[in-house]
Amino acid sequence: EKGGYEHFMLKEIHEQPKAIKDTFRGRIVDGCDIVLDDLKITKEQLANIDKIFIVACGTAYHAGIVGKYTIEKFARIPVEVDIASEFRYRNPIINERTLTIVISQSGETADTIAALKEAKSHASRVIAITNVVGSTVSREADDVIYTWAGPEIAVASTKAYTTQLVAIYLIALDLALKKGTITREYAAEICEGLKALPEKIQNFLDNKDEIQKFASEHYNTRDVFYLGRGLDYAVAMEGSLKLKEISYIHSEAYAAGELKHGTLALIEDGTLTIAIATQENLFEKMLSNIREVTTRGGYVLAFVMEGNTQLEGVVGKVIYLPETLEEIAPIMAVVPLQLLAYYMAVDKGCDVDKPRNLAKSVTVE
Ligand code: F6R
Repeated sequence: EKGGYEHFMLKEIHEQPKAIKDTFRGRIVDGCDIVLDDLKITKEQLANIDKIFIVACGTAYHAGIVGKYTIEKFARIPVEVDIASEFRYRNPIINERTLTIVISQSGETADTIAALKEAKSHASRVIAITNVVGSTVSREADDVIYTWAGPEIAVASTKAYTTQLVAIYLIALDLALKKGTITREYAAEICEGLKALPEKIQNFLDNKDEIQKFASEHYNTRDVFYLGRGLDYAVAMEGSLKLKEISYIHSEAYAAGELKHGTLALIEDGTLTIAIATQENLFEKMLSNIREVTTRGGYVLAFVMEGNTQLEGVVGKVIYLPETLEEIAPIMAVVPLQLLAYYMAVDKGCDVDKPRNLAKSVTVE
């Protein structure tokens, strides 16, 4: 049942190229036309939307943060991302001009269902992104976009997350094309990028030994800091959650620019810091944040795109990601972080597929 893999998590990490392909298949036609049969919102209805909420928990919430950056960039509609357990109790400002997107792998998370109902009760249209056909969330929402990840067994979410990202990109493109805020050429470029991803991820997975080796040398670490800016910050949060939930190593994700506002105090000799730097316009800024860490003796593992050699000799180790359009880089960049968490947990002897204190589907609040 684990298909020759030692754990479901490793199997599911390896299923990502296929899951991603299955999630965009049939939904991109003629280069960039987005066909989301279940996203019935019309141009006219969209013209009346002035605010989007994305609401979810855990890993799905992290997918939502990528959603905020991407929808705002493509469709120029303000997006607020919220944790479902916060959203449902804070009387958020929702009306018929609000569009709500809920994201839930299981479609059964109690807080997310409650948030969905809260949004609907205030006349917001609700789009659900879920992996489970017929789930509560899919039945309650106005529009449903399925992720075709297949069953996710490991508690730590991997392929559900990357397919949620694909769904988010498709929605962002669809909204932007309907609003006319991006050109068809640009949309086609993003679609090409998405289509190229499965093979690139596969290539990276075929060379995962580098990550495994790094994990074997660092699994005894006490704390890990994940740093990024923009989309890389969203990925940093997901990488950090993966590590703590299965390896029980303390980790935190920071927007790299926030480092000097407190966290830098925690960097000491040898503190492992993972820097994700895929965004070209933010690279110089990341570089100075990385130097803030190395100057204090911190050990930095950096993830950059192939071809960018600027960190050689600056950090402890650089791992190169297959070159990917930076707009969709999170789908690529999260894969090594999943692997790193996995191998560190295995090296520590943790029960990777069933980490302590967590349930696969959180149906109680
Ligand atoms: C982390 C993880 C959880 C879930 C969260 C939401 O790896 O699995 O953080 O992402 O409980 O679950 P769904 O997406 O089913 O609503």
